[in-house]
Amino acid sequence: MAKRTIVALPGDGIGKVVLEEAIRVLNAAGFVANYIVGDIGWEFWCNEGNPLPQRTIDLLTEFKIALFGAITSKPKDDAFAELKPELQGKGLVYSSPIVGLRQHFGLDICLRPCRTYKGNPLNFIRRGAGGTVEEPKIEVAIFRQNTEGLYGGVEWSNPPKQVYDALMTHPKFVKNFGSVPVDEISISTRIFTKKATERILRAAFNYAKKYRYKSVTVCEKPNVIRETSGMMYKMAQQIQKTDFPEIELWNTNIDAQMMWLTKNPENYGVIVAGNMFGDIVSDGFAGLIGGLGFACSAQYNPETGVGVFEPTHGSAPKYADYPVSIVNPIAMIESACMMLDFIDEPNIAKQIRKAVAEIVQEGKVRTYDMAKMPGRADVIERGAASTKQMADAIIEKL
Ligand code: NAI
Ligand code: MG
Repeated sequence: MAKRTIVALPGDGIGKVVLEEAIRVLNAAGFVANYIVGDIGWEFWCNEGNPLPQRTIDLLTEFKIALFGAITSKPKDDAFAELKPELQGKGLVYSSPIVGLRQHFGLDICLRPCRTYKGNPLNFIRRGAGGTVEEPKIEVAIFRQNTEGLYGGVEWSNPPKQVYDALMTHPKFVKNFGSVPVDEISISTRIFTKKATERILRAAFNYAKKYRYKSVTVCEKPNVIRETSGMMYKMAQQIQKTDFPEIELWNTNIDAQMMWLTKNPENYGVIVAGNMFGDIVSDGFAGLIGGLGFACSAQYNPETGVGVFEPTHGSAPKYADYPVSIVNPIAMIESACMMLDFIDEPNIAKQIRKAVAEIVQEGKVRTYDMAKMPGRADVIERGAASTKQMADAIIEKL
Protein backbone atom coordinates (compact mmCIF):
# COMPACT_ATOMS: atom_id res chain seq x y z
CA MET A 1 0.00 0.00 0.00
CA ALA A 2 1.33 3.47 -0.88
CA LYS A 3 2.10 5.55 2.18
CA ARG A 4 -0.39 8.34 2.68
CA THR A 5 0.22 11.69 4.31
CA ILE A 6 -2.46 12.83 6.72
CA VAL A 7 -2.53 16.24 8.34
CA ALA A 8 -3.16 15.80 12.07
CA LEU A 9 -4.84 18.83 13.64
CA PRO A 10 -5.09 18.11 17.39
CA GLY A 11 -6.32 21.59 18.37
CA ASP A 12 -7.15 22.15 22.04
CA GLY A 13 -8.18 20.31 25.17
CA ILE A 14 -9.44 16.78 24.68
CA GLY A 15 -8.99 17.17 20.91
CA LYS A 16 -5.32 16.34 21.47
CA VAL A 17 -6.10 13.26 23.53
CA VAL A 18 -8.72 11.69 21.30
CA LEU A 19 -6.72 12.33 18.12
CA GLU A 20 -3.68 10.56 19.55
CA GLU A 21 -5.80 7.54 20.44
CA ALA A 22 -7.47 7.46 17.02
CA ILE A 23 -4.06 7.43 15.33
CA ARG A 24 -2.98 4.51 17.53
CA VAL A 25 -6.07 2.64 16.38
CA LEU A 26 -5.40 3.46 12.71
CA ASN A 27 -1.84 2.18 13.05
CA ALA A 28 -2.96 -0.98 14.77
CA ALA A 29 -5.49 -1.60 11.98
CA GLY A 30 -2.67 -1.53 9.44
CA PHE A 31 -3.36 1.86 7.90
CA VAL A 32 0.04 3.01 6.67
CA ALA A 33 0.45 6.79 6.84
CA ASN A 34 2.68 9.68 7.75
CA TYR A 35 1.06 12.17 10.07
CA ILE A 36 2.16 15.79 9.85
CA VAL A 37 0.96 17.83 12.80
CA GLY A 38 -0.65 21.16 11.89
CA ASP A 39 -0.92 24.11 14.28
CA ILE A 40 -4.46 25.19 15.05
CA GLY A 41 -6.33 26.50 18.07
CA TRP A 42 -6.23 28.72 21.09
CA GLU A 43 -2.49 28.57 21.73
CA PHE A 44 -1.82 30.04 18.28
CA TRP A 45 -4.37 32.79 18.82
CA CYS A 46 -2.69 33.77 22.10
CA ASN A 47 0.88 33.62 20.79
CA GLU A 48 0.51 34.65 17.15
CA GLY A 49 -2.87 36.36 16.97
CA ASN A 50 -4.12 33.73 14.51
CA PRO A 51 -5.72 30.42 15.51
CA LEU A 52 -5.40 29.16 11.91
CA PRO A 53 -1.88 30.05 10.73
CA GLN A 54 -1.17 30.19 7.00
CA ARG A 55 1.31 27.28 7.35
CA THR A 56 -1.59 25.05 8.41
CA ILE A 57 -3.65 26.12 5.40
CA ASP A 58 -0.62 25.35 3.21
CA LEU A 59 -0.32 21.87 4.71
CA LEU A 60 -3.93 21.06 3.95
CA THR A 61 -3.66 22.54 0.46
CA GLU A 62 -0.78 20.15 -0.21
CA PHE A 63 -2.01 16.98 1.48
CA LYS A 64 -5.81 17.47 1.29
CA ILE A 65 -6.84 15.12 4.11
CA ALA A 66 -6.97 16.11 7.79
CA LEU A 67 -8.00 14.52 11.03
CA PHE A 68 -9.12 17.22 13.42
CA GLY A 69 -9.59 16.95 17.20
CA ALA A 70 -11.41 20.00 18.55
CA ILE A 71 -10.75 23.64 19.28
CA THR A 72 -11.63 26.04 22.06
CA SER A 73 -13.49 29.26 21.26
CA LYS A 74 -14.07 31.98 23.84
CA PRO A 75 -16.13 35.19 23.89
CA LYS A 76 -14.64 38.31 22.33
CA ASP A 77 -13.48 39.98 25.55
CA ASP A 78 -11.73 36.85 26.85
CA ALA A 79 -10.07 36.38 23.48
CA PHE A 80 -8.60 39.89 23.65
CA ALA A 81 -7.49 39.48 27.24
CA GLU A 82 -5.56 36.26 26.54
CA LEU A 83 -3.59 37.65 23.60
CA LYS A 84 0.13 38.02 24.29
CA PRO A 85 0.80 41.62 25.46
CA GLU A 86 2.83 42.49 22.32
CA LEU A 87 -0.16 41.60 20.16
CA GLN A 88 -2.77 43.56 22.08
CA GLY A 89 -4.15 46.77 20.65
CA LYS A 90 -3.31 45.75 17.06
CA GLY A 91 -6.93 45.29 16.07
CA LEU A 92 -6.70 41.49 15.88
CA VAL A 93 -10.08 39.77 15.97
CA TYR A 94 -10.59 36.11 16.90
CA SER A 95 -12.58 33.94 14.54
CA SER A 96 -13.16 30.20 14.79
CA PRO A 97 -10.46 28.28 12.90
CA ILE A 98 -12.80 25.42 12.05
CA VAL A 99 -15.20 27.86 10.40
CA GLY A 100 -12.11 29.36 8.74
CA LEU A 101 -11.16 25.95 7.31
CA ARG A 102 -14.69 25.35 6.03
CA GLN A 103 -14.73 28.70 4.27
CA HIS A 104 -11.18 28.63 2.92
CA PHE A 105 -11.50 25.17 1.39
CA GLY A 106 -15.21 25.37 0.54
CA LEU A 107 -15.97 22.28 2.66
CA ASP A 108 -19.63 22.60 1.82
CA ILE A 109 -20.65 18.98 2.32
CA CYS A 110 -20.98 17.92 5.95
CA LEU A 111 -21.91 14.30 6.60
CA ARG A 112 -22.95 13.17 10.06
CA PRO A 113 -23.94 9.52 10.27
CA CYS A 114 -25.77 8.28 13.36
CA ARG A 115 -25.75 4.50 13.78
CA THR A 116 -26.82 2.44 16.75
CA TYR A 117 -24.22 0.16 18.29
CA LYS A 118 -25.88 -2.91 19.73
CA GLY A 119 -25.51 -3.02 23.49
CA ASN A 120 -24.69 0.65 23.95
CA PRO A 121 -26.33 1.58 27.27
CA LEU A 122 -26.86 5.09 25.87
CA ASN A 123 -29.13 3.88 23.06
CA PHE A 124 -32.59 5.40 22.77
CA ILE A 125 -35.39 3.14 23.96
CA ARG A 126 -39.14 3.62 23.80
CA ARG A 127 -42.20 1.91 25.15
CA GLY A 128 -43.99 -0.47 22.80
CA ALA A 129 -47.58 -1.71 22.86
CA GLY A 130 -48.36 -3.47 26.14
CA GLY A 131 -45.56 -1.75 27.99
CA THR A 132 -42.73 -3.60 26.23
CA VAL A 133 -39.44 -1.83 25.73
CA GLU A 134 -38.20 -1.32 22.19
CA GLU A 135 -34.72 -0.30 21.08
CA PRO A 136 -35.01 0.82 17.46
CA LYS A 137 -31.96 0.36 15.25
CA ILE A 138 -30.98 3.72 13.82
CA GLU A 139 -28.91 4.02 10.65
CA VAL A 140 -29.25 7.58 9.54
CA ALA A 141 -26.85 9.66 7.43
CA ILE A 142 -27.40 13.40 7.69
CA PHE A 143 -26.09 15.69 4.95
CA ARG A 144 -25.81 19.27 6.16
CA GLN A 145 -25.00 22.18 3.87
CA ASN A 146 -21.97 23.56 5.62
CA THR A 147 -21.18 27.02 4.24
CA GLU A 148 -24.30 29.09 3.60
CA GLY A 149 -27.78 29.62 5.03
CA LEU A 150 -28.24 31.12 8.47
CA TYR A 151 -24.60 30.49 9.38
CA GLY A 152 -23.35 32.35 6.31
CA GLY A 153 -22.41 35.36 8.43
CA VAL A 154 -24.31 38.01 6.44
CA GLU A 155 -25.96 39.91 9.27
CA TRP A 156 -26.53 43.38 10.66
CA SER A 157 -27.80 45.13 13.73
CA ASN A 158 -29.02 48.62 12.90
CA PRO A 159 -28.59 47.85 9.17
CA PRO A 160 -27.04 50.42 6.84
CA LYS A 161 -29.34 52.59 4.75
CA GLN A 162 -28.98 50.67 1.47
CA VAL A 163 -29.93 47.43 3.20
CA TYR A 164 -32.87 49.04 4.99
CA ASP A 165 -34.07 50.68 1.79
CA ALA A 166 -33.84 47.42 -0.11
CA LEU A 167 -35.91 45.67 2.56
CA MET A 168 -38.51 48.44 2.39
CA THR A 169 -39.19 47.36 -1.21
CA HIS A 170 -40.71 44.16 0.19
CA PRO A 171 -44.40 44.54 1.09
CA LYS A 172 -44.12 42.14 4.04
CA PHE A 173 -41.25 44.13 5.50
CA VAL A 174 -43.23 47.34 5.21
CA LYS A 175 -46.27 45.73 6.82
CA ASN A 176 -44.53 43.89 9.65
CA PHE A 177 -41.46 46.00 10.38
CA GLY A 178 -41.91 49.28 8.55
CA SER A 179 -42.75 51.23 11.68
CA VAL A 180 -39.86 49.86 13.79
CA PRO A 181 -36.91 52.28 14.25
CA VAL A 182 -33.97 50.99 12.22
CA ASP A 183 -31.66 50.91 15.24
CA GLU A 184 -34.02 48.42 16.85
CA ILE A 185 -33.70 45.93 14.02
CA SER A 186 -31.30 42.97 13.77
CA ILE A 187 -31.13 40.87 10.64
CA SER A 188 -29.48 37.51 9.97
CA THR A 189 -29.85 36.39 6.38
CA ARG A 190 -30.54 32.90 5.10
CA ILE A 191 -28.97 32.71 1.67
CA PHE A 192 -29.10 29.50 -0.39
CA THR A 193 -27.42 29.27 -3.79
CA LYS A 194 -28.40 26.84 -6.53
CA LYS A 195 -24.87 25.55 -6.89
CA ALA A 196 -24.34 24.68 -3.22
CA THR A 197 -27.89 23.36 -2.87
CA GLU A 198 -27.43 21.07 -5.84
CA ARG A 199 -24.10 19.83 -4.45
CA ILE A 200 -25.50 18.87 -1.05
CA LEU A 201 -28.54 17.23 -2.63
CA ARG A 202 -26.44 15.22 -5.08
CA ALA A 203 -24.06 14.18 -2.31
CA ALA A 204 -27.06 12.88 -0.36
CA PHE A 205 -28.58 11.01 -3.32
CA ASN A 206 -25.24 9.52 -4.37
CA TYR A 207 -24.66 8.28 -0.83
CA ALA A 208 -28.15 6.78 -0.71
CA LYS A 209 -27.46 4.97 -3.96
CA LYS A 210 -24.02 3.74 -2.92
CA TYR A 211 -25.16 2.41 0.43
CA ARG A 212 -28.58 1.20 -0.79
CA TYR A 213 -30.80 3.44 1.30
CA LYS A 214 -34.38 3.46 0.08
CA SER A 215 -35.15 7.10 0.88
CA VAL A 216 -33.74 10.61 0.96
CA THR A 217 -35.60 13.04 3.23
CA VAL A 218 -35.35 16.77 2.67
CA CYS A 219 -35.74 18.21 6.18
CA GLU A 220 -36.52 21.91 5.86
CA LYS A 221 -39.67 24.02 6.12
CA PRO A 222 -40.78 24.83 2.57
CA ASN A 223 -44.37 25.65 3.54
CA VAL A 224 -43.15 28.68 5.53
CA ILE A 225 -39.62 29.46 4.33
CA ARG A 226 -40.75 29.40 0.74
CA GLU A 227 -37.78 30.75 -1.13
CA THR A 228 -34.81 28.90 0.40
CA SER A 229 -36.37 25.70 1.74
CA GLY A 230 -38.70 25.82 -1.24
CA MET A 231 -35.82 25.95 -3.69
CA MET A 232 -34.07 23.05 -2.00
CA TYR A 233 -37.14 20.84 -2.12
CA LYS A 234 -37.96 21.72 -5.72
CA MET A 235 -34.40 20.95 -6.80
CA ALA A 236 -34.53 17.66 -4.89
CA GLN A 237 -37.69 16.68 -6.78
CA GLN A 238 -36.00 17.40 -10.09
CA ILE A 239 -32.81 15.51 -9.23
CA GLN A 240 -34.75 12.53 -7.91
CA LYS A 241 -36.93 12.38 -11.01
CA THR A 242 -34.15 12.58 -13.55
CA ASP A 243 -31.25 10.79 -11.87
CA PHE A 244 -32.42 8.73 -8.90
CA PRO A 245 -35.93 7.43 -9.68
CA GLU A 246 -35.26 4.25 -7.67
CA ILE A 247 -34.84 6.28 -4.44
CA GLU A 248 -37.89 7.67 -2.64
CA LEU A 249 -37.91 11.38 -1.88
CA TRP A 250 -39.51 12.35 1.42
CA ASN A 251 -40.19 15.85 2.68
CA THR A 252 -40.37 16.70 6.39
CA ASN A 253 -40.50 19.96 8.30
CA ILE A 254 -37.69 20.43 10.81
CA ASP A 255 -40.04 20.92 13.76
CA ALA A 256 -42.09 17.82 13.01
CA GLN A 257 -38.93 15.87 12.28
CA MET A 258 -37.62 16.60 15.77
CA MET A 259 -40.77 15.04 17.17
CA TRP A 260 -40.77 12.06 14.81
CA LEU A 261 -37.18 11.20 15.47
CA THR A 262 -38.11 9.95 18.90
CA LYS A 263 -41.22 8.18 17.62
CA ASN A 264 -39.87 6.28 14.64
CA PRO A 265 -36.18 7.04 14.06
CA GLU A 266 -35.66 3.67 12.34
CA ASN A 267 -37.80 4.81 9.41
CA TYR A 268 -35.31 7.40 8.21
CA GLY A 269 -32.36 6.81 5.91
CA VAL A 270 -30.50 9.68 4.31
CA ILE A 271 -31.55 13.15 5.48
CA VAL A 272 -30.48 16.36 3.78
CA ALA A 273 -30.88 19.92 5.07
CA GLY A 274 -29.51 23.44 5.03
CA ASN A 275 -26.88 24.58 7.49
CA MET A 276 -28.85 25.29 10.65
CA PHE A 277 -31.54 22.65 10.28
CA GLY A 278 -28.84 20.11 9.44
CA ASP A 279 -27.02 21.07 12.62
CA ILE A 280 -30.19 20.68 14.66
CA VAL A 281 -31.44 17.43 13.21
CA SER A 282 -27.98 15.82 13.44
CA ASP A 283 -27.68 16.70 17.13
CA GLY A 284 -31.15 15.26 17.64
CA PHE A 285 -30.23 11.92 16.08
CA ALA A 286 -26.82 11.89 17.81
CA GLY A 287 -28.65 12.01 21.13
CA LEU A 288 -30.39 8.73 20.22
CA ILE A 289 -27.17 6.81 19.58
CA GLY A 290 -25.03 7.87 22.55
CA GLY A 291 -24.41 11.60 22.27
CA LEU A 292 -21.11 13.40 21.99
CA GLY A 293 -18.96 10.36 22.73
CA PHE A 294 -20.30 8.77 19.53
CA ALA A 295 -21.11 11.63 17.12
CA CYS A 296 -18.69 11.82 14.18
CA SER A 297 -18.51 13.92 11.04
CA ALA A 298 -16.88 14.50 7.68
CA GLN A 299 -16.63 17.83 5.88
CA TYR A 300 -15.38 17.91 2.34
CA ASN A 301 -15.25 19.59 -1.01
CA PRO A 302 -16.18 17.07 -3.69
CA GLU A 303 -14.40 19.04 -6.42
CA THR A 304 -10.98 19.46 -4.80
CA GLY A 305 -11.01 16.34 -2.65
CA VAL A 306 -10.09 18.28 0.50
CA GLY A 307 -11.64 16.61 3.55
CA VAL A 308 -11.55 17.28 7.29
CA PHE A 309 -12.80 14.57 9.63
CA GLU A 310 -13.72 15.42 13.21
CA PRO A 311 -15.87 14.41 16.15
CA THR A 312 -18.88 16.68 16.73
CA HIS A 313 -17.81 17.42 20.30
CA GLY A 314 -15.63 20.34 21.36
CA SER A 315 -12.49 20.58 23.48
CA ALA A 316 -14.30 19.89 26.81
CA PRO A 317 -11.86 22.11 28.76
CA LYS A 318 -13.06 20.84 32.14
CA TYR A 319 -11.62 17.39 31.32
CA ALA A 320 -8.59 18.56 29.41
CA ASP A 321 -6.12 18.53 32.28
CA TYR A 322 -7.07 15.34 34.04
CA PRO A 323 -3.93 13.30 34.73
CA VAL A 324 -5.75 10.30 33.25
CA SER A 325 -8.14 11.29 30.47
CA ILE A 326 -11.68 9.99 30.90
CA VAL A 327 -13.40 11.06 27.67
CA ASN A 328 -14.75 8.66 25.09
CA PRO A 329 -12.51 8.36 22.01
CA ILE A 330 -15.12 6.54 19.88
CA ALA A 331 -16.44 9.71 18.17
CA MET A 332 -12.90 10.53 17.00
CA ILE A 333 -12.20 6.92 16.00
CA GLU A 334 -15.46 6.85 14.01
CA SER A 335 -14.43 10.11 12.34
CA ALA A 336 -11.16 8.45 11.36
CA CYS A 337 -13.21 5.62 9.80
CA MET A 338 -15.08 8.21 7.75
CA MET A 339 -11.71 9.44 6.53
CA LEU A 340 -10.81 5.88 5.51
CA ASP A 341 -14.06 5.56 3.53
CA PHE A 342 -13.34 8.90 1.84
CA ILE A 343 -9.83 7.92 0.74
CA ASP A 344 -11.03 4.55 -0.43
CA GLU A 345 -9.85 2.33 2.38
CA PRO A 346 -13.27 0.91 3.30
CA ASN A 347 -11.90 -2.43 4.43
CA ILE A 348 -9.77 -0.94 7.19
CA ALA A 349 -12.73 1.22 8.23
CA LYS A 350 -14.90 -1.87 8.37
CA GLN A 351 -12.42 -3.71 10.59
CA ILE A 352 -12.22 -0.81 13.03
CA ARG A 353 -15.99 -0.40 13.19
CA LYS A 354 -16.33 -4.12 13.82
CA ALA A 355 -13.86 -3.92 16.69
CA VAL A 356 -15.70 -0.93 18.19
CA ALA A 357 -19.02 -2.75 17.82
CA GLU A 358 -17.65 -5.80 19.65
CA ILE A 359 -16.29 -3.74 22.53
CA VAL A 360 -19.55 -1.83 22.92
CA GLN A 361 -21.61 -5.00 22.78
CA GLU A 362 -19.46 -6.88 25.29
CA GLY A 363 -19.89 -4.00 27.70
CA LYS A 364 -16.79 -4.79 29.77
CA VAL A 365 -14.93 -1.62 28.83
CA ARG A 366 -17.00 1.53 29.16
CA THR A 367 -15.96 5.15 29.46
CA TYR A 368 -17.73 7.26 32.07
CA ASP A 369 -20.45 8.46 29.67
CA MET A 370 -21.32 4.88 28.75
CA ALA A 371 -21.24 3.90 32.42
CA LYS A 372 -23.61 6.80 33.13
CA MET A 373 -21.34 8.36 35.72
CA PRO A 374 -21.01 12.08 36.28
CA GLY A 375 -17.77 13.21 34.61
CA ARG A 376 -15.20 13.45 37.42
CA ALA A 377 -11.62 12.37 37.95
CA ASP A 378 -12.68 9.54 40.27
CA VAL A 379 -14.62 7.65 37.58
CA ILE A 380 -11.61 5.46 36.85
CA GLU A 381 -11.52 4.24 40.47
CA ARG A 382 -15.22 3.57 40.15
CA GLY A 383 -14.69 1.24 37.22
CA ALA A 384 -14.96 3.43 34.12
CA ALA A 385 -12.39 2.96 31.37
CA SER A 386 -9.96 5.76 30.60
CA THR A 387 -9.67 7.14 27.07
CA LYS A 388 -6.56 5.07 26.56
CA GLN A 389 -8.08 1.88 27.98
CA MET A 390 -10.98 2.19 25.56
CA ALA A 391 -8.59 2.60 22.63
CA ASP A 392 -6.50 -0.33 23.92
CA ALA A 393 -9.57 -2.52 24.08
CA ILE A 394 -10.46 -1.66 20.48
CA ILE A 395 -6.89 -2.32 19.37
CA GLU A 396 -6.91 -5.70 21.06
CA LYS A 397 -9.98 -6.69 19.04
CA LEU A 398 -8.38 -5.78 15.73
P1 NAI B 1 -17.92 20.10 24.42
O1 NAI B 1 -18.39 19.21 23.32
O2 NAI B 1 -16.48 20.40 24.46
O3 NAI B 1 -18.29 19.43 25.82
C1 NAI B 1 -19.59 19.38 26.36
C2 NAI B 1 -19.72 18.22 27.31
O4 NAI B 1 -19.94 17.03 26.57
C3 NAI B 1 -18.46 17.90 28.10
O5 NAI B 1 -18.37 18.66 29.24
C4 NAI B 1 -18.66 16.44 28.38
O6 NAI B 1 -19.55 16.28 29.45
C5 NAI B 1 -19.28 15.94 27.13
N1 NAI B 1 -18.31 15.41 26.16
C6 NAI B 1 -17.76 16.04 25.10
N2 NAI B 1 -16.95 15.23 24.44
C7 NAI B 1 -16.99 14.05 25.08
C8 NAI B 1 -16.35 12.79 24.86
N3 NAI B 1 -15.52 12.57 23.84
N4 NAI B 1 -16.60 11.80 25.73
C9 NAI B 1 -17.43 11.97 26.75
N5 NAI B 1 -18.06 13.12 27.01
C10 NAI B 1 -17.85 14.16 26.17
O7 NAI B 1 -18.77 21.45 24.34
P2 NAI B 1 -18.69 22.79 25.20
O8 NAI B 1 -18.35 22.48 26.64
O9 NAI B 1 -19.91 23.51 24.89
O10 NAI B 1 -17.50 23.62 24.58
C11 NAI B 1 -16.15 23.54 25.01
C12 NAI B 1 -15.26 24.25 24.03
O11 NAI B 1 -15.25 23.54 22.78
C13 NAI B 1 -15.73 25.67 23.71
O12 NAI B 1 -14.60 26.49 23.65
C14 NAI B 1 -16.38 25.53 22.36
O13 NAI B 1 -16.31 26.71 21.62
C15 NAI B 1 -15.57 24.43 21.72
N6 NAI B 1 -16.26 23.66 20.68
C16 NAI B 1 -15.52 23.28 19.61
C17 NAI B 1 -16.04 22.49 18.62
C18 NAI B 1 -15.15 22.05 17.51
O14 NAI B 1 -13.95 22.04 17.68
N7 NAI B 1 -15.67 21.65 16.37
C19 NAI B 1 -17.45 22.06 18.65
C20 NAI B 1 -18.13 22.43 19.88
C21 NAI B 1 -17.55 23.22 20.83
MG1 MG C 1 -23.90 21.50 16.77
